[in-house]
Amino acid sequence: MEQVTRGNFGSKLGAILAAAGSAIGLGNVWRFPYETGANGGGAFLVLYLCCVLIIGVPLMVAEFAVGRRSRTNGYRAFPTLGAKGAWKYVGFLCVLTGWLILCYYGVVQGWTIEYVVQAGMNGLAGKTPADYAADFTNFVSDPVKPLLYLFLSMGLTLGVILMGVQKGIERASKVLMPMLFVFIVVLVGCSVTLPGASDGIKFLLLPDFSKVTPATFLAAMGQAFFSLSIGMGCLCTYASYFPKEANLFGNALNIAGIDTMIAILSGLIIFPAAYAVGIEPGAGPSLVFITLPNVFYQAFGQWPWLAYAFSLMFYLLLAMAALTSAISLLEPPTLWIHEEFHIRRRYAAPIATAICVLVGIACSLSMGVWDGYKIGGMNLFDFFDFTTAKILLPLGGLLTALFVGWKMDKKALLSEISNERVLPQTLIRIYYALIRVVLPLAIIAIFLNELGLFGF
Ligand code: TRP
Repeated sequence: MEQVTRGNFGSKLGAILAAAGSAIGLGNVWRFPYETGANGGGAFLVLYLCCVLIIGVPLMVAEFAVGRRSRTNGYRAFPTLGAKGAWKYVGFLCVLTGWLILCYYGVVQGWTIEYVVQAGMNGLAGKTPADYAADFTNFVSDPVKPLLYLFLSMGLTLGVILMGVQKGIERASKVLMPMLFVFIVVLVGCSVTLPGASDGIKFLLLPDFSKVTPATFLAAMGQAFFSLSIGMGCLCTYASYFPKEANLFGNALNIAGIDTMIAILSGLIIFPAAYAVGIEPGAGPSLVFITLPNVFYQAFGQWPWLAYAFSLMFYLLLAMAALTSAISLLEPPTLWIHEEFHIRRRYAAPIATAICVLVGIACSLSMGVWDGYKIGGMNLFDFFDFTTAKILLPLGGLLTALFVGWKMDKKALLSEISNERVLPQTLIRIYYALIRVVLPLAIIAIFLNELGLFGF
């Protein structure tokens, strides 16, 4: 086997697992249900699946190709592959986007740790649905507690980056992610059998297209970018460690498939439970946190110890999934500071983290004491989420597609995606058409539609 000369991955398969670890995170379990709930359910799901297939998978393959070809990170990859002029700055856009995402991702990652603690101290037992909702609101609007968890979550992420324990995380993920999957499946079973759950299943699976607005398209596209970790060169970095013989299409399809499955299964936990206990599906970022405890304690009500063990394990796994994603978000800014300012990694990483924490504090406080400060009608947390997922990631994706389709050496691209012609020519032709024309037009159309130009 060829020697891995850079980086910290234990094996080349490890790089592929790490890419999956980056994709699977809070985006699936937390963000997908709340975006689906806020955007009308089934119709959103249909649009989301279209975005994953038409935009997500081809773009993931493009990021993989760029990464494996250039053998470098997302921010360096473009110049390495011959980008000139303004194209060189695409890398910077990617770094910035990752940074901004992490500012609020770290806040939510902190919430998951609070729920690990709550579950561990048996603080979730014996409460009514109204209590769970009130507890969550009190917690996130508290001016101190969520900040401490933000420090803790960012500290953990920084620790992994600094100590280079990717290897350990990678090995742990091999066990933990399948476990998370099993837990999710069991919870789906619990949730759909709650009394009154069927309305929730209908909400998620029966599309009602009358609810579709331009914002639904944009939300579906944003969620696809966010959940698949595409649009900011994050996956380039991982792909630079992929083995030569790794099939980029196969890996992209697998990762997107697993990612989407986890998202849909999470929806199948959240909505039946939300309908069963009378929580609004459009409750926003709080949705997962106030519905899940209900599922644990209603489903396992007769066996409190089981509810205890199950909830504790579940939140631990969720926190781990968030950690592997957060690492992938902190790495690009760290590298950028390290290379651009010639600062050692062990200083660059804390600087990148400190900036996230400072902005993260503002995001966290905007859920409570600073709720009065609005930008375009949104508090800071929502504003960051909106700008990154719905504007910057698609913009990064658009530029990546244009670069790969029109600027990158065609031979180089084809040899990467075809693995020296192992793949059928027709597939490659379709891919080329998608990345050059269909994908950029789709992204532009969704942007223009949002501005009211088409009126769908
Ligand atoms: N995809 C991750 C999740 O679902 C979040 C994430 C990690 C991400 N790296 C990214 C999103 C890069 C966009 C770009 O939780």
